[in-house]
Amino acid sequence: CPFSDFPDPFAAAREAEGIQEIDDQGDPVKMVLGHRNVRKSAHDWKTYQSGAKPGRIVVPSEVNIRDIRQIPFETDPPEHTAYRALVEAWFRRPLEEAYEAALTELINSELDRALNAGAMEVVHDFALPLQSRALTLLLNCPRQEAEHWIGWGTHVFRSDDDPLDSGKANQLYDYLDAEIARAGKDPENGTDLYAHLLRAEYKGRKLTIEEIKGVMILTFAGGRDTVINAVTNTLAYFAGNPEDLARLKENPDLTTRAVEELVRYFSPLTHMGRVATKDAEVSGCPVAANTRISLAWAAANRDPGVFENPNEVVIERKANPHLGFGFGIHKCLGAPHARQVLKVLINALARRVNKIEVTNYEDNIEQWGEFERKVGFHRLQIQIS
Ligand code: HEM
Repeated sequence: CPFSDFPDPFAAAREAEGIQEIDDQGDPVKMVLGHRNVRKSAHDWKTYQSGAKPGRIVVPSEVNIRDIRQIPFETDPPEHTAYRALVEAWFRRPLEEAYEAALTELINSELDRALNAGAMEVVHDFALPLQSRALTLLLNCPRQEAEHWIGWGTHVFRSDDDPLDSGKANQLYDYLDAEIARAGKDPENGTDLYAHLLRAEYKGRKLTIEEIKGVMILTFAGGRDTVINAVTNTLAYFAGNPEDLARLKENPDLTTRAVEELVRYFSPLTHMGRVATKDAEVSGCPVAANTRISLAWAAANRDPGVFENPNEVVIERKANPHLGFGFGIHKCLGAPHARQVLKVLINALARRVNKIEVTNYEDNIEQWGEFERKVGFHRLQIQIS
């Protein structure tokens, strides 16, 4: 099916060398492609650090467009451990019953809107507002704030045509400055994430504004296009595979497994970089000190040595050690939220939707050196009933 297939561009290179170097603004990246080596390198944070110059572990590198460190993402132990401890419980709130109930109400009202219209463009008219409004639950802030974020477009950090446009990030920074100042007027009684961070104690002191911004930027950026793509791709998948939606309707207990399988298959975050702290070796290939590797979650997730029929969506797949949310100490903090969004969405689709038909679409293809990878859609026009 042309729109619901997400081919694996890494198969040959993963099989041959297991690693492939690509250029990025003169700071090359060796992409690690096999499941075993991705896990091993992610585990070895002493050799492959995240706490390099801010922006350098992101591909394409953002060193020239930002100097605020994203927290806890761009730190290593022991700082990482201490930062993460401040927010770990907060990011598990999505598992609470009241959170799931609020999310269910929210997603059903998005679906009401779609079903009433009968047709829509999924990325901008469904996934973006859904992601933005759901994020108000994670921040525990007024639902109304989402209307503001929706206006920023699908990527908070990058403009659509220029991935390295620094101007775009400023609107997020300015917004965060204002929000932190607002929460700072009464941090003791505030109930949102800003107030939580303003009250937090890091190694016996309060967090700086810069550090709070570092957490908030990551919360906005990390959960933006990943969730938008996951939601959009899920609708495309069920449009192309209505029998799977029918099976989920018959057997809602399969939903949890379906969520994991779709995250494996779509792998909304293709890869993330690390900087070698010393001369090292991956997959028999030398990695020089102060050069970059990347952990290619998307390539690892199609490794035939780990996943039977890796290029097929098997919604009832049992053992599913996918790396879609990363691996090791940096594994995704937003995963409980993202999993709940997808679970509630799939349940609502299975219960309420009879037919999804794609009428027009434009793929979103990433280019990594020679690799071309479909990560989602720029546009997905559907009819829904
Ligand atoms: C880390 C994927 C949604 C916040 C990660 C990592 C991956 C990932 C692969 C590991 C990065 C690394 O090791 O360098 C995804 C996917 C998502 C998603 C596929 C959606 C389907 C979210 C959401 C949020 C979020 C909704 C928050 C709103 C974070 C944070 C980290 C992270 C804060 C860094 C954790 C740390 O460094 O300790 N994510 N993510 N993510 N993600 Fe997500």
